[in-house]
Amino acid sequence: MKSSLIFMMIPLLAFGKFGIDFGPDSANDFSVSDLQCLRSTGIQFAIIRGWHSYGAFDQRLLTTFPNGLKAGFPSIGVYLFPCWGMDAVQQVQQMMGNLTQYRRNIDRVWLDIEMNPNQGCGWDTHSFEDNCQYISEMVDAVKALNYEVGIYASHRGWGIILGNDAACQNFADIPLWYPHFDYKPTFDDFVSFGGWKKPTIKQYIDLTRNSKCGIPVDQDWIPDDDDLKFQ
Ligand SMILES: *[C@@H]1O[C@H](CO)[C@@H](O)[C@H](O)[C@H]1NC(C)=O
Repeated sequence: MKSSLIFMMIPLLAFGKFGIDFGPDSANDFSVSDLQCLRSTGIQFAIIRGWHSYGAFDQRLLTTFPNGLKAGFPSIGVYLFPCWGMDAVQQVQQMMGNLTQYRRNIDRVWLDIEMNPNQGCGWDTHSFEDNCQYISEMVDAVKALNYEVGIYASHRGWGIILGNDAACQNFADIPLWYPHFDYKPTFDDFVSFGGWKKPTIKQYIDLTRNSKCGIPVDQDWIPDDDDLKFQ
């Protein structure tokens, strides 16, 4: 029984790279030992929140980011959850302005394009065209600072924020990170939207139903043939 279980696990572990993403809070500070524990379970990459959805730099990143490096993550991604009430370019500049000391360890800056319930921060009070333009400004701002950029978005969210699946195809040349909590580390479920023919990362397990090392974390997966660094 035991050996057949191990046998079944091997293909999953051997194929692709497994990662986590999280926004640290007072209950979970992601200490060096927490992150070392996560690495010992086979987690190879991490993406950490750098900007709160209410429009401010996430100060905890200044502890969590160096903790991740100490725990042995070679490079780390950061994500920005924008608040539409603020200028697109300024949010990128302020987040990255707070992170200049980690410039060479930042793998990529991910723009988190999803519904934002914070007062004055939502996409729903703006036109689909303006939302597309807003994302373009953020993408350009990340590139202007010489960081790699990517977009986190779901098929459903894209329709709500940009109008429909085929809308706003400006970003098909940058990596897509998409959520689908089906517990399957494969892209077989992917449905094309926003001009993306293929995704780069899948967030396949949701933190509300997942705990590793006693910590709730979202889990992510990249196939072996990915073009991301994380190494
Ligand atoms: C850090 O972020 C805050 C916003 O939370 C901003 O006011 C500040 O200017 C940023 N710092 C730098 C050095 O860019």
